[in-house]
This record gives sequence, structure tokens and C-alpha cells, in this order.
Amino acid sequence: MKKSIAASAIFFIALIIMFFLACNNNSTESQANTKEDSLKKVIARGEYLTLHVAVCMHCHSMRDFSKFSGPDVPGTVGGGGGKFDNNIIDVIPGTIYSKNITADSATGIGTWTDEELLRAITQGIRKNGDTLFPLMPYAHFNHMAKDDLMSIIGYIRTIKPIKNAIPPRQLMIPISVAYPAPALQKSIDGNVRPPESDPVKYGGYLVNMAGCTDCHTPYVKGQPDFSREFSGGNTFTIAGFKVTSANITPDSATGIGAWDQQGFLNKFIVCREEKGYNYNPEKMNTVMPVVDYAGMTDGDLKAMYAYLRTVRPVKNLVVKYPK
Ligand code: HEC
Ligand code: HEC
Repeated sequence: MKKSIAASAIFFIALIIMFFLACNNNSTESQANTKEDSLKKVIARGEYLTLHVAVCMHCHSMRDFSKFSGPDVPGTVGGGGGKFDNNIIDVIPGTIYSKNITADSATGIGTWTDEELLRAITQGIRKNGDTLFPLMPYAHFNHMAKDDLMSIIGYIRTIKPIKNAIPPRQLMIPISVAYPAPALQKSIDGNVRPPESDPVKYGGYLVNMAGCTDCHTPYVKGQPDFSREFSGGNTFTIAGFKVTSANITPDSATGIGAWDQQGFLNKFIVCREEKGYNYNPEKMNTVMPVVDYAGMTDGDLKAMYAYLRTVRPVKNLVVKYPK
């Protein structure tokens, strides 16, 4: 009798120990899962912003303008070498090439720390201390929430490294007088991402990140005229076509004031499917990276629309395809 009580006591204690071990095991496993899940979420957010909102790869890849909106040339994504010069638009004072932002250590950003990347993306300062030409939209990225920026950095480190050495830029004027002398905040730590429940504010955050103003605000003597922000009128010339940016202020006669939300969404949504861009539109092509923005969620496109309804209407009749 005593023996069997002792035996069952031992059995019972063993059971408790096993139970605790199992619990412990489970909790470390679920902790690991949570970590992995949040890492996946960060990278997925980074991929979304990099490809579809901040459209980093629109500039940091080679583009095929024999197709609508110039989708990326496969195999060049992140490898840089995109050429921007004064033949495309005269506000670019020389020839500037996008850099290789893949993890290749010799020709890309493989040896850069997160801090160095953050400084380049938000302050326009390279690892070696040089100032980047503000065609790289660091003046916009300077207003992004830090966790969004870190998710982009996390994502670009995962893309396939490409060995591609980029030629140096050739500027006709010193960088210090180039457009626009950006007013940068020294620290981005206080930046907040507006809640999605406030579509106007969140839409403004997205429009800033997406650089819409860079093409849609008219340049006067090489400087953007923000008193007429979003009213269009800049002409771009690419081999094969010439196109002028549209007036996207809510002016109903000359802007997009008469466009309803669905009409605005459709401008982007057509390029979600290959047949929307995989054809040669010849002279009716565009420099607007619609093919990249098309990946934005309907909710984000609606937020951008909501924001653009609130900007000052400007009367400016634009002919998108000048003769
Ligand atoms: C409108 C085009 C454009 C967009 C969009 C753009 N970049 Fe750039 N980026 C450039 C150009 C051009 C340069 C080089 C400028 C120069 O040489 O002065 C550059 C430089 C850089 C550099 C510096 C690399 C080096 O070796 O100096 C980094 C890092 C970078 N971009 C990351 C990004 C990221 C990340 C995004 C998206 C969040 C992005 N860029 C979006 C055009 C762009
Ligand atoms: C690289 C330059 C560039 C950028 C960046 C750009 N656009 Fe455009 N956009 C154009 C040009 C050029 C046109 C005229 C040709 C066309 O319709 O695509 C245009 C046309 C449009 C139109 C059509 C208006 C009409 O009257 O037909 C809308 C809407 C629009 N852009 C919204 C946006 C929004 C929103 C963003 C930012 C998310 C943006 N654009 C970013 C160059 C740009």
C-alpha cells in the first residue's frame, strides 16, 4: 500500500514536471513564432512601401519604355544605373545615375549599416559623406515614420544582390545650388504616421512618400513653384514620346475636380494586370510609374484621392500629349 502511494506520488510529480516542461517548450516555441511573424510583417510592409508607394525601384532599376509606364527590366531590380539627364527634363542640371541599392558589397550597399542607410534615405548623405542630388527624394522620406523607413531598409537587404558599378554623376552646377534646397529635419525620430482612420492625413502621408509633387508641381527657373502645387505642366521627353504632367488639383475645369473616386482608382488599377501595361503605346506613353503604384491597396488609393480633394484648386490647362 505505502509502496503504491509512493509510486503514484512519484508518478504524479513526474507528470507535473513533464507538464511544466511542455508548457515551457510551448512558450519558447510560440515566442519564436511571434518573432518570426513580426519580422515577416516588417519585411512585407517594407516590400509594399518600396515597390508600390515610395517606388524606390522605379528609379533604382532599368526601365522598359517600349511598354506602358516603363516597367522594370527583369534582373535589374535595385541594381541602379537608371539615367536621368537634361534631355528628359531641363531642370536636371547634368547627368545623374540611380545607385545600386542591392546588398552587393563591392558595388551596392552590402557594407552599409542601418544608420548609414537611414542617413542617405532621409538626409541625402552618402556613406562617404557626399551629398546626394535631391532627385533622390530624401526631402520627402525625411518626413516618414521611422518604423516605415526601417521596414524599407529591412526589405532592400533581402533583394537579390546585383553586381553593377554605377558611373559618377556629372553636374553642370554645384550641388549646393541644385533644386530644391531641401529643408531637412535633423532628426526623424518625432515623425508620426497618421492613422488610416484619417484618410485625408494618411493620404497626405502617402502622397508625400510617393513623390507625386515632384512631377506634378510646375518648375520655374529650376525650382518647384509650391504656390501652384500639383497643377502640372512639366514636360518629359523620353526616346519615342513626350508627355506633360497633368493638373491633379481639384479644379473642375482643368484639374481632376470632376473625377470621382472610382475614376481616380481606375487610373491605377488598369496596370494591376499585365495586359494593362504589356503593350507599346508609342507616343501615348507616360513617365508616371503607374505600373508600380498599381500595387497600392484600394484603401491607400482612396486615401490619396481624399487628400488630393483637399489641396488648393489651381486653374492650369495642361495638354498631356503636346504635338
Ligand atoms: C525619383 C527617383 C528615385 C526614387 C523614387 C528613389 N531614389 Fe534613391 N537615388 C536616386 C538617385 C538618382 C540617386 C543618386 C543621386 C546622386 O548620385 O546624387 C539615389 C541614391 C540613393 C541611395 C544612395 C546610394 C549610394 O550608393 O550613394 C540610396 C541608399 C537610395 N537612393 C535608396 C532609395 C530608397 C530606399 C528609395 C525608396 C524609399 C529610393 N532610393 C527612391 C533616385 C531615386
Ligand atoms: C515621374 C513623374 C510622375 C509622378 C512621380 C507622378 N505622376 Fe501623375 N502623371 C505624370 C504625367 C506625365 C501624367 C500625364 C500622362 C498620364 O496620364 O499618365 C500624369 C497623370 C496623372 C493623372 C491623370 C490626370 C489626367 O488629367 O489625366 C493622375 C490622376 C495622376 N497623374 C496622379 C498622380 C499621383 C496621385 C501621383 C503620386 C502617387 C503621381 N501622379 C505621380 C507624371 C507623374
